[in-house]
Amino acid sequence: MDQRETPYADAMRAYATSHPTRFHLPGHGGAGDSLGDYFGERMLSLDLMPMMHGIDMGATPTPLERSLRLAAAAWGARRSWFLANGASQGNQIAALAIAGLRPGGQMLVQRSVHSSVIDALVLTGGSARFVAPVVLDGMAHGLVASDVAAAIGAAGGATLSCVYVVSPSYFGFVSDIAALAEVAHAAGLPLVVDEAWGAHLGFHPSLPQNALRQGADLVVSSTHKLGGSLTQSAMLHLGHGPFAGALEAQVDRARSIVQSTSESNLLLASLDLARCRLATGAAQIGDALGVAESLRGRVRSGGRFGIVSDGFPIVPGFGGVDPLRIPIDTRVGGINGHRARTILAEEHGILVEMATDAGIVALFAASAAPSIDGLVAALHALPVDPVARRESRMPPLPAWGTARMTVRDAFFAPNEIVAAGDAVGRVAADSLAAYPPGIPNVMPGEEITRELIDFVQAVAAAEFGHVRGAVDAGVMRVVAL
Ligand SMILES: Cc1ncc(COP(=O)(O)O)c(C=O)c1O
Repeated sequence: MDQRETPYADAMRAYATSHPTRFHLPGHGGAGDSLGDYFGERMLSLDLMPMMHGIDMGATPTPLERSLRLAAAAWGARRSWFLANGASQGNQIAALAIAGLRPGGQMLVQRSVHSSVIDALVLTGGSARFVAPVVLDGMAHGLVASDVAAAIGAAGGATLSCVYVVSPSYFGFVSDIAALAEVAHAAGLPLVVDEAWGAHLGFHPSLPQNALRQGADLVVSSTHKLGGSLTQSAMLHLGHGPFAGALEAQVDRARSIVQSTSESNLLLASLDLARCRLATGAAQIGDALGVAESLRGRVRSGGRFGIVSDGFPIVPGFGGVDPLRIPIDTRVGGINGHRARTILAEEHGILVEMATDAGIVALFAASAAPSIDGLVAALHALPVDPVARRESRMPPLPAWGTARMTVRDAFFAPNEIVAAGDAVGRVAADSLAAYPPGIPNVMPGEEITRELIDFVQAVAAAEFGHVRGAVDAGVMRVVAL
């Protein structure tokens, strides 16, 4: 091995050069982005030790405290925390805080939550009840308030600890948070919202309002996704509702156990800069919204592809659309979404955020206004495959198996890998989520059913289908007998 080589750093540099047009994370860039000005050549001298007097510590309010107060005011929080390990860390903190607030209670969780929420159950040792989101055409949207009310009723004697939802979805579907907050609060439960994809919400009159201002009690925000900070930086916001006082202390405790003692101050500074840009940059956000609207208009008028979010208002649980995410139905235009994404990247150097077999999702940073001419031209030059127009023949989503153990007990139990056929009736040790739509089909601790195995294998066998968490679709990790 040649220790003079730096393959990772070289690959990054090559990628950055060869893919200048990106409609994907992270959401920074664009003319006048203050991050570039701020870090530039000075990055090394700004990379300081943690807990510096005059920055993080010392006479109060410290600059860190002032920054946090500004962030809380910008999002409408009682208090905000900066995080250096993503919204994943935010979800871990939220779940730990809820477990501290309501020991032994079960979280009522949207089944399509991010894996970090399930991972948090390994930390808390608690259990969860799940509520299915609306799933249409391979896309998981949000929860409907009446379904949450029914699930609360069905919990009967079980003690619940919170309602935990995700909004916006990967496709930009914003749930009716006010209605969800009302249902949760009527049952005496705090509402936790994973708003990872919505750091920018509420910062322009044309954007949906953020979850905190609609009554959420704890909000996880992946600021780096569309909010403009550096990758891995995120925030947690506490609302003003009836649980705020008790939750605040729990969040402080929880944060201290999943926080590095050397959080990168570069990441924290990027949060400060992103907050400033969002809170003072309505005009720039307006430019980004204008470009996104123009892309939608040109796709519609091209007559070949569809804008999936045009249909969102009639989806149950609808609260709004994030206009900076543009889900494009490529299947109606005769090309599978995965193939479209691959061709755009490989032949045109244009990267979009994600694909399903039905389409692609392009996204815009809240304050960047990139040229869309190349994307529009490349889209309409995509080859047509009449077979792709057919509806995908995915089997229906399988019902979830009964929970036999908590996620934590299953995770730590001795386990073994068995052939998928032999896994029926056994208890899963890992979660598996078939894409699309990426909803965990089985969680650690749940019983594996024949229906589940058939579904997961059908998705794995489909072109571009894949199963997250599987060692291989032919085998499964189960709790040892
Ligand atoms: C809904 C949701 N929550 C949380 C996360 C985790 O965010 P991060 O990558 O900032 O840890 C993601 C990541 O994609 C996500 O989609």
